[in-house]
Amino acid sequence: MAENLETIISVIAETEKAFFYRLSNAATRDDLEEIRIEYLSRKGKVQSLFSLIGKVDGADRPKIGAELNRVKKAVQDAIDEKQKSFQRTGKAIEFFDPTLPGRTVSVGSLHPLMQVMDEVKQIFVGMGFRIEEGDEIETDYHNFEALNIPKHHPSRDMQDTFYLSDEYVLRTHTSPVQIHTMEDQKPPIRMIAPGRCFRKDTPDATHSPTFHQVEGLCVDRGVSFADLKGVVLAFAQKLFGKDVKVRFRPSFFPFTEPSAEYDFSCIFCKGQGCRVCKDTGWLEISGAGMVDPAVFGFVDYNADVYSGYAFGMGIERIAMLKYQVNDIRIFYENDLRFLKQF
Ligand code: DAH
Repeated sequence: MAENLETIISVIAETEKAFFYRLSNAATRDDLEEIRIEYLSRKGKVQSLFSLIGKVDGADRPKIGAELNRVKKAVQDAIDEKQKSFQRTGKAIEFFDPTLPGRTVSVGSLHPLMQVMDEVKQIFVGMGFRIEEGDEIETDYHNFEALNIPKHHPSRDMQDTFYLSDEYVLRTHTSPVQIHTMEDQKPPIRMIAPGRCFRKDTPDATHSPTFHQVEGLCVDRGVSFADLKGVVLAFAQKLFGKDVKVRFRPSFFPFTEPSAEYDFSCIFCKGQGCRVCKDTGWLEISGAGMVDPAVFGFVDYNADVYSGYAFGMGIERIAMLKYQVNDIRIFYENDLRFLKQF
């Protein structure tokens, strides 16, 4: 039985209407191509309408045929027209409304870690330190051996390392810049070396395989631990305010003797004890010490004439305290909701 002519005409009309609706929402060339395939390809919606011709009485077929040809042409013309408008404007949106406000160019900002790094640099430059730069790829010699960390020595276990080969590593700390600086220059030396470091750590709230340190080194005649303490205290108070106190605890590093770690009094509870300082009143900041004479041996400095202090601190740690961030990973996720706050 032939289908009702009216029904078929309305199916054709619906298809055409749906097409124009889709087309009006096409914002990109890709959208347009998708619609073209959907409607005009060999198995597309327009072509499949042609099979309806067989379902009407012979007498009505010319009429349906003519209608289908009209729709096909309308669809083709509309697609061509839209394509041209994309080409003309070079843009997806085909109309231009001159009354709309212009598009603002969003301005980026320095990453919070770089802001902290800059502040730390500024404080030390103000105290007469120069800035040295090292490479992120280091020789095993500079990263370990010349820092008095021999191959196969247990002290290497303190730093889980990305080895690139037997000879090269991704530096695990900024301390190798001490060696380069002393190889290249004679005392007196007062330098800091900021930079990125790498360790084979599994990321968690306080560990990241990429992180940043600032190294410090001062070598001259008669440099003592008292100088180290004075510089660290001045740094602490410049960074976190006049009330900050500093304490040194004995520790061990292969390249310093004696070695220490220093803490700042908690900047949140002023030393009373709180969640951040785990009720100790102190925040661990950095390792430091007097340069081990063995290190001077590697760079041909006379340890009988010169002495020096060194320190190395984590930038992330300071940034986390300063901005009250409790998960280090957020610094590396490029999440604009976080970064826009700085
Ligand atoms: N390089 C050490 C580390 O990453 C930190 C350090 C400790 C650096 C003592 C120093 C220092 O210069 O004297 O764990």
